[in-house]
Amino acid sequence: MDITQLLDAARHGHPLTSAARHGRPLTVADRGRPLASAARRGRPLTVAATALAATLLLSACGGGAATPGAEKAAAADPTSGANASGNLTICGGKDASGIYKGTAAAFSKENPKITAKYTEIGATTDEARTQAVQRLEGKSTECDIFMLDVIWTSEFASQGWLLDQTKLVESNKDRLIPSTVETTKYKERYWGSPFFTNAGLIYYAKGKVAKPETWTQLYAEAAKSAGNGYVYQGKQYEGLTVNFLELLYSAGGEVLDDKGEVKVDSPQTRKVLDFMAEGLKRGSADRAVLTYNEDATRLAYESGTFGYERNWPHVYRLLNATKLAGTFDVAPLPSFDGTSKASGVLGGWNLGISAHSTNPGAAVSFINFATTPDWQKHVAMDYSQAPVNEAAYSDPEVLAKMPFAKELLASVKGSKPRPISPVYPQISQAIHKNVYAVLSGTASTDEAVKKMAEEIKSAKATF
Ligand code: GLC
Repeated sequence: MDITQLLDAARHGHPLTSAARHGRPLTVADRGRPLASAARRGRPLTVAATALAATLLLSACGGGAATPGAEKAAAADPTSGANASGNLTICGGKDASGIYKGTAAAFSKENPKITAKYTEIGATTDEARTQAVQRLEGKSTECDIFMLDVIWTSEFASQGWLLDQTKLVESNKDRLIPSTVETTKYKERYWGSPFFTNAGLIYYAKGKVAKPETWTQLYAEAAKSAGNGYVYQGKQYEGLTVNFLELLYSAGGEVLDDKGEVKVDSPQTRKVLDFMAEGLKRGSADRAVLTYNEDATRLAYESGTFGYERNWPHVYRLLNATKLAGTFDVAPLPSFDGTSKASGVLGGWNLGISAHSTNPGAAVSFINFATTPDWQKHVAMDYSQAPVNEAAYSDPEVLAKMPFAKELLASVKGSKPRPISPVYPQISQAIHKNVYAVLSGTASTDEAVKKMAEEIKSAKATF
């Protein structure tokens, strides 16, 4: 890989060069300091500085040395929650289900010495990440807890942006589903506590269309009449990566193999891309999906003019509060065509304590509250989100409010993670950018698959 590729890959979201992007010439004195803070002031990079930046980037990313931040991280003290008081600010994405504000209010009620508030910092996961990174690079003390998408753990931990929660997680581990705990792990330590997990579901108009058994059947059924259409997240962002990977995993494809080798240039990827593009041409899915994130998808389906919707569990409660209550059912994601096993993509959100929090004790107290088996029942009953405590899924009170809890647990357990990497944002960008190019008709499947594989390889080569 040459310097241009390296810096280009890095510019697209690698935390080290997001710093260099703002660039003043870097000096040797900057070695050892996070590039982010070194480079935040202004002038363009000189050739020498560019070479130095690349050297620093290489040495920071090269084998084993990628974690200076994680190695220096302070640990959260599991006992510090007991006498905590004061203010606590939790920051994260749009609170579509109301779970964040609701949990903060219930926590403050039970712990009157602490006033917790939720601050929205972005409409989608991508926007929330950008906002979180800006605050963390600037050492802002505004947010004590960041809601962390499961895909951010390696990046945030490797940058030293989070307190090490290993001891805290160990003390709460009995109450947590193991796959959710795994999502908080980086270099054998835990950097967050699971709050709720996530698996995609299909909502379908039971009077109009058949229960989805395979993706091919769903697409065929959706094309039969105008009111049968399928809506999903096709905008160019993380949601499209998820929607594409759900199809790819169900078709038996993968992005990286067990050894981390890039395997995305495959017949399965080509099959899925052709299938999605064809689905837009045939009218299985409305072209407007190319602008939809989760909320826009939900609102489109609520118009009553579609047959199928792919979305997360929180939509169940919101849909039940509309005129469509009683007209729809919920199904797990299907297999591709019945020849391989159905498998979704594991989503979910963890609670990370900012390395710059001025009240980590209150953050620990909040985490202990949010992960109790009792509050985890509310996660399902009040917000229709997927609990991280397994017992909640068979609790009669939960089942009364979330009749698909058993299927949801099976979906969570059958879901696969997205590629785990400190440069995940670039890997995902390589996916959604090229998938979008095929869906919007600006690239052929063959061109897109080749580019996707190349760009993922370049991103991986930067660490
Ligand atoms: C949901 C998932 C999250 C995923 C995002 C994509 O919020 O919980 O993991 O990255 O959707 O839009």
